[in-house]
Amino acid sequence: MPSRDEILEALERVIDPELRKSIVELGMVRSIDVAEDGATAITVSLTTAGCPIRNHFSTAVAREASTVEGVTSVEVTFDVLSDTEKAKLQQSLGRGSLPEGALARVANVLCIGSGKGGVGKSTLTANLAAALTADGKRVGILDADVWGYSIPRMFGLGSEKPPVSPERKILPHEAHGVKVMSIGFFVKEDAAVVWRGPMLHKALTQFLEDVEWGELDYLLVDLPPGTGDVSMTLAQLLPQAKFLIVTTPQPTAQRVARRAAEMAGKVDLEVAGIIENMAGFTTPSGERYAIFGEGGGQELADELDVPLLGKVPLTMPLREQADAGTPLVFTDPDDPAAQATRQAARGIVALTPIELPVLQAPEPPAAPAPKGLSLPMAG
Ligand SMILES: Nc1ncnc2c1ncn2[C@@H]1O[C@H](COP(=O)(O)OP(=O)(O)O)[C@@H](O)[C@H]1O
Ligand SMILES: [Mg+2]
Repeated sequence: MPSRDEILEALERVIDPELRKSIVELGMVRSIDVAEDGATAITVSLTTAGCPIRNHFSTAVAREASTVEGVTSVEVTFDVLSDTEKAKLQQSLGRGSLPEGALARVANVLCIGSGKGGVGKSTLTANLAAALTADGKRVGILDADVWGYSIPRMFGLGSEKPPVSPERKILPHEAHGVKVMSIGFFVKEDAAVVWRGPMLHKALTQFLEDVEWGELDYLLVDLPPGTGDVSMTLAQLLPQAKFLIVTTPQPTAQRVARRAAEMAGKVDLEVAGIIENMAGFTTPSGERYAIFGEGGGQELADELDVPLLGKVPLTMPLREQADAGTPLVFTDPDDPAAQATRQAARGIVALTPIELPVLQAPEPPAAPAPKGLSLPMAG
């Protein structure tokens, strides 16, 4: 009976025409099963289900495996690499422009976006972070809303510059157990920030490269509204990120949110789910008013075929706590808005199982010499 290793050796001759490496080296050989009579079943993992070079692999794998003595027949099947495997592959290929190791110890990156401002994206980001933290997860927030940063205020943080480690890495501030990094720590309050193009790209890259996040289960990225430069830049830098879309229930908001989904599709980010915010208001006497209409979140979720992770109602305490500097989920987990947010957080956990091997990634390499550039700050 031929051994698994012999077959694996033969499969080293099967080269991925795009990546120009052997499928063995790329870790794409998922399984090899050899029966007593030499009938061999091989599963190959592809990067996408509709991989156009599937036939090439099918033929080449069957051909090479058949050269091994004792193999009587070959059956080739395919599956798809998981997101973490894809991210690992991408990293090993040096794709994306982040240096290897920059986010190696961050298991999941979730970008929270919306078509427009004022839908409660930052409020939800802060409270989702709180809910995940309360659930024992290690969480960081990157406030990438370079024009309307509000995360520091929601965590009671001022505009103090974050400390720098002896290795010259920027250390995020920590509040209520959540690591927080914001452009707001680097600009004077109320200073008009007009970053665009390369400058913006540089600042964001630096946030991802030079911030020492440590080990995180979740890095939540609060995107600016819209589908502009920042989202594009981040998508380029974070090919493994998933996208959460926040919308209000009314049809117009949903149309705008759809544009965010289209953008995510264009840059190949997977939309993980929808959260509907401002989903009605219930008076103390129990009457419910659908102030912003009904059903927009579900409709968008159906249309994109992704889960609706939560419907967060309007409540006064949600706004008050955001202004007071402690997310509501920490101070009053039973408030209806807090409950809905906690439920959404559980949905996120269910969508993003934490695979231990990722957390065991090697320590990042020693910090490179400072590049002589500090964050571009206004004064
Ligand atoms: N469910 C809600 N109930 C009450 N107020 C809310 C709710 N969601 C958001 N807000 C308030 O609405 C305003 C806009 O929210 P914010 O999170 O800053 O939106 P975005 O980040 O999308 O611009 C804030 O004052 C916030 O406190
Ligand atoms: Mg915001």
